[in-house]
Amino acid sequence: MVQLFNMSHDYETGFDAALAALRSGGLVAVPTETVYGLGANATDDNAVEKIFQIKGRPGFNPLIAHVSGLQMAERYGVFDALSRSLAAAFWPGPLTLVVELKPHTNIASAVCAGLPTIALRQPRGTMAELASHLGAPIAAPSANTSGRLSPTRANHVLDDLGDGVDVVLDGGSCMIGVESTIIKVHEGNATLLREGGIAAEDIEAFLGIPLLQGTDKPEVEAPGMLLAHYAPKLPIRLNAKSTKPDEALLAFGTTTSAGPKVRNLSVTGNIDEAARNLFAMLKELDATGATSIAVHPIPETGLGAAINDRLKRAAQSSENGS
Ligand code: TXA
Ligand code: MG
Repeated sequence: MVQLFNMSHDYETGFDAALAALRSGGLVAVPTETVYGLGANATDDNAVEKIFQIKGRPGFNPLIAHVSGLQMAERYGVFDALSRSLAAAFWPGPLTLVVELKPHTNIASAVCAGLPTIALRQPRGTMAELASHLGAPIAAPSANTSGRLSPTRANHVLDDLGDGVDVVLDGGSCMIGVESTIIKVHEGNATLLREGGIAAEDIEAFLGIPLLQGTDKPEVEAPGMLLAHYAPKLPIRLNAKSTKPDEALLAFGTTTSAGPKVRNLSVTGNIDEAARNLFAMLKELDATGATSIAVHPIPETGLGAAINDRLKRAAQSSENGS
């Protein structure tokens, strides 16, 4: 049976229950500023294995280890001046750093899926607190079935994963709404592996140099990027200027369209608000019985890059029927 706690009424009881579950090898769903994570003690092989099982996640796709801060991160990853400065500037926050994995740590081997690197992030709030009390990182992917939309509310987790989770902490809607930005730091270079909750241009402004883009070896450097993702049940039609009969609409900015099959990411055209609403509204439209979902054009600026990345993957996944 899943234990559900509302964090605004029952913070301490919920926190203690989640900590107890982590200590005894269980799974917890915890809100972060980006999306809800499905967490296990990252040093417990059996607990980490359960994450892969319940999500149906392929074993070659590594997990992010959530830490209480840079000190814990440095027990597992090799940090140079560049990765340290990025952590100092953007942690706690929606930035994941992929760095070389230290030899002979107690991290469960499935966390890094056999790669010579480890993904580390200090999120804002409860997850980092839990890692601090546990004295170990928390391995946590987004708390959804592999390939499906990421959860930004506790009920998304319950609907998708239900009884497979021991404790669910309900912290309401996630503040950012898209997953963390992933940067790989290697030999003094910073490479953007995934657009996310911190705009790439903000990181570039901090570094004073452009980020390198992508990778020629995704199977080695970013295995998760190869997979179908964010698939709603309905087909998605991007950059739509108008809707067809029976089509649902995910609007952005002012529109005259209205009705039960219309959601607006942000009436005022605010890109941060759009990111917060993205996954929840896609899920709602997916349940309307429409033939497909038309999506207005979304500007590429700020979090728009991450929104468009997720929408493109959603459109591809639904085309593939996966
Ligand atoms: O905001 C987030 O990042 C959320 C919250 C819960 O922290 N987590 C999340 O995890 O989005 P997940 O598993 O859905 O996505 C993590 C991505 C995957 O694409 C995975 O392949 C990649 O991070 N990743 C993990 N370790 C890696 C590594 N060593 N090298 C390259 N990519 C890695
Ligand atoms: Mg995910």
